[in-house]
Amino acid sequence: MTSWWHGGIGYEIYPRSFADSNDDGIGDINGIKGRLPYLSWLGINAIWIAPFYQSPGLDHGYDVSDYRAINPIHGTLADFDELVADAHGRNIRVIVDIVPNHSSSQHRWFQEALKGRDQPHRDYYIWRDPGPDGGPPNNWVSHFGGPAWTLDEASNQYYCHLFLPEQPDLNWSNPALRAEFDDILRFWCDRGADGFRIDVAHGLIKDPQFRNNPQRVPIQDPDNPTEVFNAFEHLYDMDQDGTVDVYRRWNQVVEPYEAVLIGESNPRSLDRVARYVTNGSLHTVFYLEPGWIHWKPEDLLEKIETVHRSTDTGISWVIDNHDNPRSATRFGGGDVGRSRSLAVMTFMMALGGFPFLWEGQELGLTDAELDASNLTDPIATRNEHGVGRDTTRTVMPWDSSHANGFSKSAEPWLPSAQRTPAETVAVQRDDKSSWLCKHRDLITTRRSHPDLWKATPQWLETPPGAVRALRRGKMLALANWKPDMFSIELPPGKWSIIYHSGSAEHEDVSGRIDLVAESTYLLVAST
Ligand code: GLC
Ligand code: CA
Repeated sequence: MTSWWHGGIGYEIYPRSFADSNDDGIGDINGIKGRLPYLSWLGINAIWIAPFYQSPGLDHGYDVSDYRAINPIHGTLADFDELVADAHGRNIRVIVDIVPNHSSSQHRWFQEALKGRDQPHRDYYIWRDPGPDGGPPNNWVSHFGGPAWTLDEASNQYYCHLFLPEQPDLNWSNPALRAEFDDILRFWCDRGADGFRIDVAHGLIKDPQFRNNPQRVPIQDPDNPTEVFNAFEHLYDMDQDGTVDVYRRWNQVVEPYEAVLIGESNPRSLDRVARYVTNGSLHTVFYLEPGWIHWKPEDLLEKIETVHRSTDTGISWVIDNHDNPRSATRFGGGDVGRSRSLAVMTFMMALGGFPFLWEGQELGLTDAELDASNLTDPIATRNEHGVGRDTTRTVMPWDSSHANGFSKSAEPWLPSAQRTPAETVAVQRDDKSSWLCKHRDLITTRRSHPDLWKATPQWLETPPGAVRALRRGKMLALANWKPDMFSIELPPGKWSIIYHSGSAEHEDVSGRIDLVAESTYLLVAST
């Protein structure tokens, strides 16, 4: 059975930063609704909206205090219903972000749990007695700095949190908790949600014995939470085998609604990525590494091929999201970075699955520069290290008016990054050679040539290095991500170049052709 998401193209929206309808400086659901005509013009099939639930906002909504209510700064349930109706009228599906690994410490469940060891909600969270020295029960660390355990003095037990102490981890070995989430999923499906992006999908189950993670390398800078986190091999706190059982159950819950389950996963190794999408578990999973690495094209293509060989339909391909510097910045900055970013996205469009763009990626945006005093991300504000994730989260540049058209007169929650007119939607929309129009052409190309995601994939032989050729039925995707021109022999027959990330050329070709450096081509066999 072909599902609606197969062959689709998604678009991630950070609700704080997309569009502010009531001029208070914070993006909202009505703002998204107002921009649906733009998204429809762009040609995407689905939006994924980062969390808009009731939340103290310490991790901008990834600390949920009520899974069934909307944070008034973003709007109301009625606004959500209207957004869904409007989006559906334009054939755009709406995917909401579900945060099952942890709640906010302000959630009623945690507040009840704090009341004592025998409270019914105590077991919704993960509690352990202190270690032999009175300290944390094991060596697990939080992504956001410090240990993954905080002591509740009243009960003299530690609770686990892979993120902030204000984001206590939920206990997925508790059947009552599992049942709560079945209900939450149904709540949003009943309101018309078409699917879920599952936050920290790899994190839900922990080692029942709570063993220490082995440390792989010494830590140079203890103030750098990412370095500290990556110094350990995460054998016991994440990516446990039993996690997929949770999603098999979710799959049954959402099936009657034809809703899609997309996991944010960070497995220990490439061969564990496809586990999340096998045997009736998740539908697709984000493979995140291309979203944080710098420009190492040979390595990137190698990994992409390895992951793709393990599942053709199961990956939501991405190079950008709200958690990392933008690809145009990571891949070299300026037009060099932008053009590499488009080359990678172009190849991803031939990889099956359900790829996603991150708001502003289509404009070729690079990261904003922010003053330290403006930073809001706890990774930056709670550690003496780095700038955190705010630089990718500045507001969408719609036009050259106040705050780049994000708010009417209010100052946005993050300064609007002084985008030039050439970076805005208003200017790029009317320029056929703009990054925006190139992304739009790419989306149109994928949608009008279903072989790109439907036909059986066949990796053709190519010499070692940053070059790949993938054939799918009538289509051929050629990546030359080397710094120089590369000459390649096409499969027999006549071909037409229908998309080239490096230029607007559309040409009929056959035999041996020269591929422009650092670019990707999509070709169709001429009949
Ligand atoms: C995911 C989100 C990130 C958030 C974290 C904790 O990685 O993408 O933004 O901070 O989970 O919920
Ligand atoms: Ca607002």
